[in-house]
Amino acid sequence: MSFDSGYDDHYEAYESYFDPMKTDRQARRKRKPKVKHQPKKSHEQIVEAIADTQGLEGGFETTYVPGLFEEGWLLSALRSFYDQALITDVLARVRGGKEANVYRCAAHPTTGVTLVAAKVYRPRMFRNLRNDKLYREGRQILRVEGGAVKENDRRTMRALDQGSAYGSELAHTSWLMHEYRALETLYMAGAAVPRPIAVSENAILMGYAGDGSLAAPALSDVALDVDEARSLYDEVVRNLHIMLRHRIIHGDLSAYNILYWDDRVTIIDFPQVVDIGSNRQAANILHRDVVRVCEYFSEQGVDCDGDVLFERLWRRYKATSSREDAADASRAEIDEE
Ligand SMILES: Nc1ncnc2c1ncn2[C@@H]1O[C@H](COP(=O)(O)OP(=O)(O)OP(=O)(O)O)[C@@H](O)[C@H]1O
Ligand SMILES: [Mg+2]
Repeated sequence: MSFDSGYDDHYEAYESYFDPMKTDRQARRKRKPKVKHQPKKSHEQIVEAIADTQGLEGGFETTYVPGLFEEGWLLSALRSFYDQALITDVLARVRGGKEANVYRCAAHPTTGVTLVAAKVYRPRMFRNLRNDKLYREGRQILRVEGGAVKENDRRTMRALDQGSAYGSELAHTSWLMHEYRALETLYMAGAAVPRPIAVSENAILMGYAGDGSLAAPALSDVALDVDEARSLYDEVVRNLHIMLRHRIIHGDLSAYNILYWDDRVTIIDFPQVVDIGSNRQAANILHRDVVRVCEYFSEQGVDCDGDVLFERLWRRYKATSSREDAADASRAEIDEE
């Protein structure tokens, strides 16, 4: 198990946040809320109270045994999916990424599938924040209930600018909502992305690529024969067209964020998406995505050129951009990253 470098520094704060009693895991699971003396309840209130104890306290036992530090945020992030009868169990941790952990979950039959992936964003203090300024330009701050923060909402805008706890929480949720929105748009448009199933403040539930024992590897871990590489390259290019038609640039596209399973690709990891029309670096970001994709496919024997593909895509879709001058913007800034 590996953690972000800041993990150790924050461990104690984290532990006391989620486990102020510092009890062991079993004890914490059994811990009951303090009994308060309350006036007699009506029948309806009693039924409601019983329903409320279902879920975490009522036995959201998971096959996967989370670490002490992980349990609090994992179960609180997934509880709403459990309570909404979307998942019945957490089976395994697929991978711990820089910003999120992804878990293989047993899906509730109502979802129509047997397995789903839950991408649980780390609590703010445990995330390796990438330099997100580049991606934030021209993006709205999205809330989990839907809708964006209004520009004239001075109090909220101030919190965002000042990076208060409330502001950081909003920015964090917005990051995740951009990923969910992109998945919704692209999935509806027929792109090869996981099906978005549900979202909460800290997690996204989506279609899972893989089987009960193995999650799909990333293309970067797969060597393809040249015929298959050609057809998968065409499929990735088809997806680039779908994205651009919807003004979406992935922003972190490479063979690491394309999964491979059953001869098909699935493109993942969208929190940093940028709008082709409102980010002045759109051309550069798209250029970087396309070059990285072509680097991988060239290694697999496909005759492709990132610069050529970029020019072709940009020429075709830049009309949807309100900032055509972006094409001429220096690439230096982004290449330096
Ligand atoms: N829908 C999915 N089905 C199966 N595995 C998935 C799915 N989504 C993500 N994963 C796995 O989890 C990993 C991390 O997911 P993702 O790239 O979205 O998060 P991240 O925190 O940005 O990770 P990284 O920093 O490694 O890019 C992926 O590389 C992949 O192995
Ligand atoms: Mg990733």
